[in-house]
Amino acid sequence: MIIKTLFSGILAAYMLFSYGSPDGKSALRFAWSADGSEWTPVAEGYGFLSSDFGPWGSGKRIYDPQIGYSDSEGTWYVWWKTLDDGSVWAVAKSADLCIWKPQAYYRADEYPKHLPSDLRKASPASAAVGGQTQKGVSIEVDNSLIDNLEAYAAAKNAKAARIAESVRDDATRFEGLTEVSGVITPYLSYEKRISDHLMGIFFEDINYGADGGLYAELVQNRDFEYSSGEQRTWDAMTSWKILSGSAEISTEKPLHANNPHHLDIQGPAAVVNGGWDGMSVRKGEGYDFSFFVKGKGKISVSLTGPDGSVLASAQMKVKAGDWTKYEAVLTPTADCSDASLSLSFPKGAFSADMVSLFPQNTFKGRKNGLRKDLAETLAAMKPRFVRFPGGCVAHGNGLDNMYDWKGSVGPLEARKPLRNIWNYHQTRGLGYYEYFQFCEDIGALALPVLPAGVPCQNSGIASHYTHDNLTLYGQQEGLPMEEMDGYIQDVLDLIEWANGPADSKWGKVRADAGHPEPFGLKYVGIGNEDLISEVFEERFRMIYDAVRKAHPEIQVVGTVGPFYEGSDYDEGWALARELSIPLVDEHYYVAPGWMVWNQDFYDNYERGKTKVYLGEYAAHTTDRKSDIESAIAEALYLTSVERNGDVVDMCSYAPLLAKKGHYQWHPDLIWFDNENIYPTVNYQVQKLFGTNSGSVYVPSELSLFNSSEAVRNRIGVSLVRDGSSYILKVVNYLPVPFKATLDAGGYSLSGLRLSRTTLAGSPESEDAAPVKDSITLGGDSLSFPAYSLTVLRLEL
Ligand code: AHR
Repeated sequence: MIIKTLFSGILAAYMLFSYGSPDGKSALRFAWSADGSEWTPVAEGYGFLSSDFGPWGSGKRIYDPQIGYSDSEGTWYVWWKTLDDGSVWAVAKSADLCIWKPQAYYRADEYPKHLPSDLRKASPASAAVGGQTQKGVSIEVDNSLIDNLEAYAAAKNAKAARIAESVRDDATRFEGLTEVSGVITPYLSYEKRISDHLMGIFFEDINYGADGGLYAELVQNRDFEYSSGEQRTWDAMTSWKILSGSAEISTEKPLHANNPHHLDIQGPAAVVNGGWDGMSVRKGEGYDFSFFVKGKGKISVSLTGPDGSVLASAQMKVKAGDWTKYEAVLTPTADCSDASLSLSFPKGAFSADMVSLFPQNTFKGRKNGLRKDLAETLAAMKPRFVRFPGGCVAHGNGLDNMYDWKGSVGPLEARKPLRNIWNYHQTRGLGYYEYFQFCEDIGALALPVLPAGVPCQNSGIASHYTHDNLTLYGQQEGLPMEEMDGYIQDVLDLIEWANGPADSKWGKVRADAGHPEPFGLKYVGIGNEDLISEVFEERFRMIYDAVRKAHPEIQVVGTVGPFYEGSDYDEGWALARELSIPLVDEHYYVAPGWMVWNQDFYDNYERGKTKVYLGEYAAHTTDRKSDIESAIAEALYLTSVERNGDVVDMCSYAPLLAKKGHYQWHPDLIWFDNENIYPTVNYQVQKLFGTNSGSVYVPSELSLFNSSEAVRNRIGVSLVRDGSSYILKVVNYLPVPFKATLDAGGYSLSGLRLSRTTLAGSPESEDAAPVKDSITLGGDSLSFPAYSLTVLRLEL
C-alpha cells in the first residue's frame, strides 16, 4: 500500500498504533514505530480524543477504538463502542487527528453506514508501549503526521503547564521579587463604548438555590409530589410525619391534574412538616399559612419549636365541599431556627394539598416572593441582567425534563412540578413570573434560556430519535419533528406572555397574575452549552428563524458548547457566523492560571458581528475553594473582559447560590443556610465590578519596570467611565505590592480626591472583605497590595 499518496512531499512511512484501555476509561492515544516492533508513545501518551457519550463522570467511555482514513474526504475517522455491550457506537472525524468534529452516536448495526466506503481501516494489532502491552489497531502513515501529533500535543502540554500555574509556587516563581512598579497612562480621547449591562447574574436551581433557597416557601414538599425518581429515599410523604391518627397519599380527585398527589386524612389525626432542615421564623413577624382542603370541621395549624413549645397557632373552620383554599396568619412569639408546622384534624375524612407557610417579609414584600436576605444580597451586586432558569436545568435530563416555561406560570396549584436535573424537586413556585418580577424589582434585564429542542448532552437518559429513517442512539436526542411546530409556538408564546398587551392570549396570563404592563423582554437564550450536533442544529435553526421572523426586536442568544475551545465551540461559532446570531453564550470553568494567561482571549474577536455572553465562568483551584486565589484571578480576567466590553456584552459567574449541606457543585458564589448568608470573596469581586461598571472604556497603557511575562500577566488595569465618574480597577495577582504612578499627560492630578475600595488577602483567605477609604492624590505613587483588587473612583 502506498501511503505517501495521502500526504504531499517525500516522506517516510511509519506505523501509527492507536489504543484506548480495556475499561474504556482512557482517551484515544497513539504510538509510532519505524519497523512495527519498537513502539514509542506519541507525546508520552497524550490523549487526543475522549468520548462525549453518556452522563458526566464515569459514564463517558471509549472501548475498542478503531481508526481509518478516507482518501476521498481527506479525513480520518475514529469509531468506538461507548458502552461495553457494544450497543451504541460513536463516530468522530478529524483532518489531522488533533482537531475533531462533533461526535455522532449510532446503533451497532447502523454506524457502518456512517463510515465512507473508501475507508482504509487500520488492522488489529498489539504493541508494547511504554513497557505495557496494549491492544489496538495500526496503520501505515508518513512521518509528518506523527510530527504534527507531537507538535500539537507539545503545544497543548505547554499551555496546560501554564494554566496549571498556581499561587502555591509563587514563592519560587517570584523569588527575589520585592516590589513591582510602573506607570498607568490613560488615553481619555480614545474612549470607546462598551456594554452598559456587562455584569449580571446566572440563576439556576442547583444546590437548592430555588426551593429551600431563594424561594421563600418554608414547607418542604408542600405539594406531596416528591418521588423516588428524584431521590431514591424520597416519596410523597418526604418531610412529612404522621403524629397521630391515620393519613395516606392519594391520587383520587386531585386538586389539579398537574399536581396529582395529595394527603387523605382520617381524623382525628395530626401531621407535621419539618421544612428544609427546620423552619427559621422570627418573633413578631407574620407568616401566611394556606392550604387547599376538603372535609368538614375545625382544623388547627401551629408552628412549634423543637421542644414542642407552640410559637403560633390558628384555627380554620372548614366547610363541606370541594377543594377550597383556607388561609391564616401565624405570628411567632419567639425566634426559632428549627420550627415545624403541624396540622391537627378533628374526627372525619379530610384531604389536604399545597400546604404553604410563607413569610410576609419577602424581598419587596412580594406575595409568593423571594427570601429577603438572599435577594438583597443579589441586588447588592447591581446585576444588569438575570439569566434563568439554568444551566442544565434549562435543557434538562432527557426530553421529558426540558424546562417548559408554561408549566412554571399561573396559579401555584396548577404549575407543573419538575424533576430537577440535579436530582431534587422543583415546585416551580419560583417560576417565570417570579423571575421576571425579580428582574423588574432590581432593574435588571431578563434573560430566559429555553432549550433548543434538545436536552442536556450529559443526560443520564440514553434514548433515540428518528432521522432520515435511521434510528440514532445517543444522549442528545431531539424533539420529534412533528412536535417542533408546537415547541416553536411555545417559544413565541413566551415573548407574547412577556411583552404582549394584557388582552393578548398570553399577555392576559401575565396580566391575570398581577402584571398588566409588559415586562419588556429583550433577550431570549436558545440552548445551553449543547453538543452542536445535526440534531441540535436542525432544531436551533427552526427556532431561530421563527423568532427572527416573528420578533426581529428580540436578541437571540445562541450557544457554543461547554468549553472555550473544541468541536462544540468551533461548530457553534461557525453556526453563529452563518446565521448572524446576535450573541452566543460561552462557558468555561478554568484554573486560575488560565485566566492569567488568556487575558487576550477576546482581544481579537471580530467586532460588529456576533457578540459574546460569557454566561458561565469561574476560576477553579485544585481544591475548588472560594478564596483570594480564585477571586483575584477572576478579577484579573474581568479587567480584560471590560476592555473587550464592545464584544463581550454580558457575563455572569456560575453557579450563584449553594445551600450548606445540600450542594451538587462547588465553588459557588453565595452560600446560605436557613438563617444566614455567607458571601464568598468571589462574590465581593463580582459586587465590586457590578457596582463600579461603566458604559465607556478608556484605554490606558500600563508600563511596567519589569520585563518578566509572568509578572506582566499578573497585573490588570481597567478604566471605565460611568457618566462623569471615572473608575479605575487595578488587580495585582503578585505576591508583592505593585506601585504605580498615574500619568495624565500634561494634567496634574495632585489634590484630586478619590474613593478607594481594596479587597486583598493571602491566597488562601476565604473571608477577606473589601475595605473602603478615600485618598488624595499627591506626587507619590499608589501602592496596590499583593493579591488584591483595588477600585478607585473619581467623581467629576
Ligand atoms: O453551573 C453549573 C452547570 O455548569 C450548569 O448547569 C451547566 O450549564 C454547566 O455545565
